[in-house]
Amino acid sequence: MIFTVAIDGPAAAGKGTISRRLAAQFGFAHLDTGLLYRAVGAMGGDPVAAAQALSPADLDRPGLRSLEAGQAASRVAAIPEVRAALVAFQRRFARREGGAVLDGRDIGTVISPEAEVKLFVTASAEVRARRRFDELEAAAPGAQDYDTVLAQTRERDARDMGRADAPLRPAEDAVMLDTTDLSIEAAVTRACDLVADAL
Ligand code: C5P
Repeated sequence: MIFTVAIDGPAAAGKGTISRRLAAQFGFAHLDTGLLYRAVGAMGGDPVAAAQALSPADLDRPGLRSLEAGQAASRVAAIPEVRAALVAFQRRFARREGGAVLDGRDIGTVISPEAEVKLFVTASAEVRARRRFDELEAAAPGAQDYDTVLAQTRERDARDMGRADAPLRPAEDAVMLDTTDLSIEAAVTRACDLVADAL
């Protein structure tokens, strides 16, 4: 069975949790496509060459989830040649046998416009920054302050939405899921219902 779930939206809106839970529920493979850009950003040197040479082992590098790695990712993600080098791998993943969930910024618009289910997950910048801050605090207490996380969230949103190539935006046929006032359980339930209906 070929079945793609495309999940897009800004940082810390809940895409990762929803994607992992959908993949577990339906037995689909999951690809966090942000990790590809994070790995390219973390390699240093020429980002185009890094993207062309990217291998699965690079996705296991330590530190890829940090705020700095997120900023570096969003800078290299604005380079069209970097994006082009990563398209084929993502498209193959999306159409692999057995079903796939991909989360990122351009899955429903560029990587898999044919996806059977498209979700655009959002939340206010304040709520997203608070979630990211809480995560970072749990990992390294006292290492960052909320205002910095909020400023970086806004900066990354602006860069991801403002770039010319594959900007962050909902596909025309995406279902919008605003998690500002929605618990993660409610959001997961809604996403599971949408997939179950489309299967
Ligand atoms: O989702 P995550 O925060 O890990 O993504 C890091 C950065 O990678 C994003 O801010 C965005 O610039 C870029 N990205 C992208 N397209 C994707 C996934 C991530 O441009 N499909």
